[in-house]
Amino acid sequence: MTKYIVQGGKPLFGEVEISGAKNAAVAIIPAALMVDGVCRVENLPQISDVTMSLKILENLGAQIRTINRHTVEIDSTHIHSTRTDYELARKIRASYYLIGALLGRFGHGEVAMPGGCNFGGVRPIDLHVKGFTALGAKVTVEGGFIRAATDRPRLKGANVYLDVVSVGATMNIMMAAAMAEGNTVIENAAREPHIVDLANFLNSMGANIRGAGTDTIKIRGVERLTGGTYAIIPDQIEAGTYMTAVAATGGQILIKNIIPKHMDCITAKLVEMGVEVEENEDTLLVRRNGPLQRTNVKTLPYPGFPTDMQPQITTVLSLAEGTSLVTEGVWSSRYRYVDELRRMGAKIQVDDKTAVVEGVDHLTGAPIQASDLRAGAALVIAALAAHGESEVSHVQYIERGYENIVEKLRAVGAEIRSVEEPERAALDAG
Ligand code: UD1
Repeated sequence: MTKYIVQGGKPLFGEVEISGAKNAAVAIIPAALMVDGVCRVENLPQISDVTMSLKILENLGAQIRTINRHTVEIDSTHIHSTRTDYELARKIRASYYLIGALLGRFGHGEVAMPGGCNFGGVRPIDLHVKGFTALGAKVTVEGGFIRAATDRPRLKGANVYLDVVSVGATMNIMMAAAMAEGNTVIENAAREPHIVDLANFLNSMGANIRGAGTDTIKIRGVERLTGGTYAIIPDQIEAGTYMTAVAATGGQILIKNIIPKHMDCITAKLVEMGVEVEENEDTLLVRRNGPLQRTNVKTLPYPGFPTDMQPQITTVLSLAEGTSLVTEGVWSSRYRYVDELRRMGAKIQVDDKTAVVEGVDHLTGAPIQASDLRAGAALVIAALAAHGESEVSHVQYIERGYENIVEKLRAVGAEIRSVEEPERAALDAG
């Protein structure tokens, strides 16, 4: 059990280098299963979701060669199984991408029902299933596994309309269709930067995908994907998290290795709140000296304000002058962290999808517990801004998606350290 101990109340100054995008990496690694040859993936973030995804591929017969901390070579020439390890796959949400990848290349795949972050609501995959079915697969659930298979030699291209804009369904259907016979059109597709990244990855391996980044994606199926080299884009949400951290604490941070365009939706809100943001080619200089102003935020699919930044921006707004409204427009519920912020003195009322955030002068350090990845990041931000000491527990959620968060924060002057705690069971036994 690891905990973070944070002495808050210090402004942050310095530079942070942003890692590769988690949500692109957890799709591109399964997509590498479709490649008949060696693909080299660069700028992979060193986080536990990536380690786990690589392990799943290895169990299926892929050869993984680590080149350096952020680069691997994946050789999926000799895949010997299309049934994933149950325990490994159920640990990460993104294991659902293995279904699209296996189905696309081999015409069948079995993957444990996905796990991962639980925001407190249901995370359905009915749209993924709708897409696979349209492409000619039969999808069933047996013994905790989702089984998808076609009795044809290959899937068959089709038109798929997504009733709800879904990142996961868009990427999964794109993978399955990349090697289907004929053309597929995905309408009302999600437009997140990691969707474009997955399409670019597949295209660089020989796929024929157009329109990624718009709401209509057209895929002409190819018979084979072959090897190549691909570098993953920088992580929009990691960058946004450090931007909100300096907004909450005050100070000045240079955020390096980003694509500023991907940050527009976050930058715009922070500027409304009185944060200064200076954009350069691949950096953002983020500065906050004066008081934070209230604003309203509604999360929406890209290019709207990302739901994965909702806990972090709510934390900053809890320190702004006046009352702000935050509306969750993607998930049915994503406010479990609010109880923890209240322990620190935040004044937030949640009514269904809306949080009414009444700004307070300061937060006070407390023992707090992460309930999911981004909620955990928000609690770290709260702890950095709070007066006094906080103990953040259940940080394994945070480490699923943030590379070296403790080191990166320490480099900008944060007083944060990671401590190992004996398991409670061991304590009780003692
Ligand atoms: C991905 C991200 C997650 C982010 C989310 C929205 C990964 C690994 N995770 O999750 O961090 O919060 O995008 O940006 O990339 N829905 C359905 N049926 C489906 C699928 C989704 O109704 O089959 C609904 C969901 O309940 C939700 C909405 O669609 O209300 C968006 O979900 P989706 O974009 O699919 O999220 P994920 O891909 O799971």
